[in-house]
Amino acid sequence: MSERVTVIEVGPRDGLQNESATVPAGDKVRFVEALAEAGLPVVEVTSFVSPKAVPQLADADQVLPAVRRLEGVRYPVLVPNVRGFERALAAGADAVAVFTAASEGFTRANINMTIAESLQAFAPVLERALVAGMWTRGYVSTAFGCPYDGAVQPAAVARVAGELAALGCAEVSVGDTIGVGRPEQVPEIVAAVADRLPLEQVALHLHDTGGRALENVAAGLEAGVRVFDSSAAGLGGCPFAPGAPGNVATEALVRFLHEQGFETGVDAEAVERAGQAVRARLAG
Ligand code: COA
Ligand code: ZN
Repeated sequence: MSERVTVIEVGPRDGLQNESATVPAGDKVRFVEALAEAGLPVVEVTSFVSPKAVPQLADADQVLPAVRRLEGVRYPVLVPNVRGFERALAAGADAVAVFTAASEGFTRANINMTIAESLQAFAPVLERALVAGMWTRGYVSTAFGCPYDGAVQPAAVARVAGELAALGCAEVSVGDTIGVGRPEQVPEIVAAVADRLPLEQVALHLHDTGGRALENVAAGLEAGVRVFDSSAAGLGGCPFAPGAPGNVATEALVRFLHEQGFETGVDAEAVERAGQAVRARLAG
């Protein structure tokens, strides 16, 4: 029996929010359905954020209820505040993800809050999500470096991750948001975070901007992480690095994990087809 790694698909959300073109709602729905059919156990569908902040996902209220769901698959959506939670609830969400960062500069630019304010804003969201029986996830962005503040200390990442877990996040995803991470950083960051919450609840969210995402995955596996976020066809780019690759591609991650002897339950070819279909829509 080979060991299992959970691959969390974030292409429909993290990927599409970072593409300049907007994909029609029907194509988004088909994309999400194809990803679940490819065997992905978690597919992040969209964001219930301000449509001014992310116009690409302004159709979240239409997209989520239109998805034909598969038994056993989770479909989280991003929510920044109670308003977003109420929209997600009305649209039938079964899981929500809140998001903050390890650096103040990025948190201000992304959600116009301090880190402390963001945690305060999430407390009632997570409380209501848990009452509603939803699965919950929290993101710590800029864990490997911040486009505004520069270097980020592992202790800062661990503090925010610990707070998210204490507020009720079942899983905390530690993100290299701008793809500057180096494999040498991974053990220290993972160890600091695992000091605050069980390692089984820790995911890594690695962007490939610097071309080292798979090396960082390997370092994460070595450090004991068994949950990784990725984006079909590497959708997403990076708003801070025009032309640079986005999230690590799900098909590349899955092939790498299989080569390393891990089991994922995911069909890499089917993921790649789904991603290419959306890329074709983006290209017009
Ligand atoms: N859904 C829809 N609209 C929302 C909303 C939500 N969850 N939360 C706030 N809004 C609207 C407000 O009504 C207001 O609209 P108006 O200008 O027409 O009055 C506008 O968005 C701004 O809201 P405000 O409460 O003043 O907050 P803000 O300007 O400080 O923005 C956030 C805070 C969190 C709402 C905004 O920064 C945001 O949505 N960020 C998300 C960024 C993101 O998704 N990044 C990618 C993930 S890493
Ligand atoms: Zn990301």
